[in-house]
Amino acid sequence: MDTPDRDNGHTRLAESTTQEAHSASQIGPFDYCPKQGFREYWYPAIEARHVRGKPVHLTMLGDELVLFRDKAGRVAALSDWCPHRGARLSLGVCEFDGTVTCPYHGYTFDGTGQCVAALIERPDSPFMGKLRARAYPTEERMGIVFVWMGETAPVPLDEDLPAELSDPELTGRRYLRVKVWEANWTEPMAQGIDFHEFYLHRGVNVWRLFNYRLGFFRPKVAYTGGVRITSEDETSVNAAWAAPHFGQGYHPGLGAHWPRRVWWRRLAGGPQFRGGEPLLERYRGVQHNVELPSKIRVMIGASIHLRWMVPVNEHDTRVWTFTLVRKPKNLLHAAGQALWYHAYRKPSIIIATNEQEDLVVFKRERLNLERPQKLGPLDVGLIYFRRHLAQRARDYQRLGQARGALKSPGRTTLEAPQLGDAPQLGDAPQLGDEPQLGDAPRPLVVARGPRA
Ligand code: FES
Ligand SMILES: [Fe+2]
Repeated sequence: MDTPDRDNGHTRLAESTTQEAHSASQIGPFDYCPKQGFREYWYPAIEARHVRGKPVHLTMLGDELVLFRDKAGRVAALSDWCPHRGARLSLGVCEFDGTVTCPYHGYTFDGTGQCVAALIERPDSPFMGKLRARAYPTEERMGIVFVWMGETAPVPLDEDLPAELSDPELTGRRYLRVKVWEANWTEPMAQGIDFHEFYLHRGVNVWRLFNYRLGFFRPKVAYTGGVRITSEDETSVNAAWAAPHFGQGYHPGLGAHWPRRVWWRRLAGGPQFRGGEPLLERYRGVQHNVELPSKIRVMIGASIHLRWMVPVNEHDTRVWTFTLVRKPKNLLHAAGQALWYHAYRKPSIIIATNEQEDLVVFKRERLNLERPQKLGPLDVGLIYFRRHLAQRARDYQRLGQARGALKSPGRTTLEAPQLGDAPQLGDAPQLGDEPQLGDAPRPLVVARGPRA
């Protein structure tokens, strides 16, 4: 398999992933990914403007949180279960500056989770000092409240923020849509690198006729030739089609061409036609990117479609979709961008494509993540994520495990696994899990300890 253009020299892992795909990989969505998401990360929780005078309830990674403003006006996050007898703090009130009062017996907590008043017990209650709600570290950036969901000390927020959001050349968080999808987080994540668009998104969605470069009328990719990894690093992998063929493909098993008709695609087009230059140099030649713990990027012309999946629980995901373009040059340019986003990009891609085509196929009850899967040449990037990136997640580095994942691996570096390495504890084969090329044991790397 030809896998050129990688820019970091880590070719062996990409090649072993491609070989694994050719042997029909059985790596499953939850082998190394926990059903409720990796925990040792910052995740976007809520736009800060939504937290005002009342406690706000939010579920993230299966944890119930209550958000409110602390004494300094910052958004604090506590466990929504009162440490007294378990009532929901979010049903209470923020009667006193910087606190939340439980609706049941009136114990009152500050932003650190400490009980600061026992309203109906007595003002000098000795019990107060014993009562503390779990507090989650929070940080506000660009009007978004981020919450550290880990058990260990948080990393600096910038380590987990997509670089585009703070790039002064780009529009950052300006074009944002937040919506709960009725699907486990792994599927909207997986589709960020699975190249399904060449089938699922081929239809005559009216928006596709209005693409400003009339892409609908150009020859389309009939088949991709599979997927190749274009580059990889510690936390992300980039992928592109391997050998695209335009127009029609002949399928001997069918004795037919597909697509059946291509008569309307009259404008010139070719593999290079992507509707614009890539926004960032590092994504040149890249169509799809996946980054730990749950971010994807799709390069669409001169914009980046960046999606950050925040597991609500096992069944639902709060999907943050950022659309990034270059900072406007002047007011007129800004108005044009706003029009483009609100009148075209949001309805055509985020709603008509993602929410009305993607989600329809994989929402709850429509896709069975419990059934065995076979991943092949279209899934090279996905195999890479499930097998290699997942095992580099901070949960494995800091906790030695990712709670809720089915397997317990040795930890990986970017070095390719060696066939014939001695088996490691925890790599025992699972029932129904035929050995795969990429299943060779990985070198065990000493875990990196949490930062102070
Ligand atoms: S349960 Fe919250 S004060 Fe009693
Ligand atoms: Fe899609």
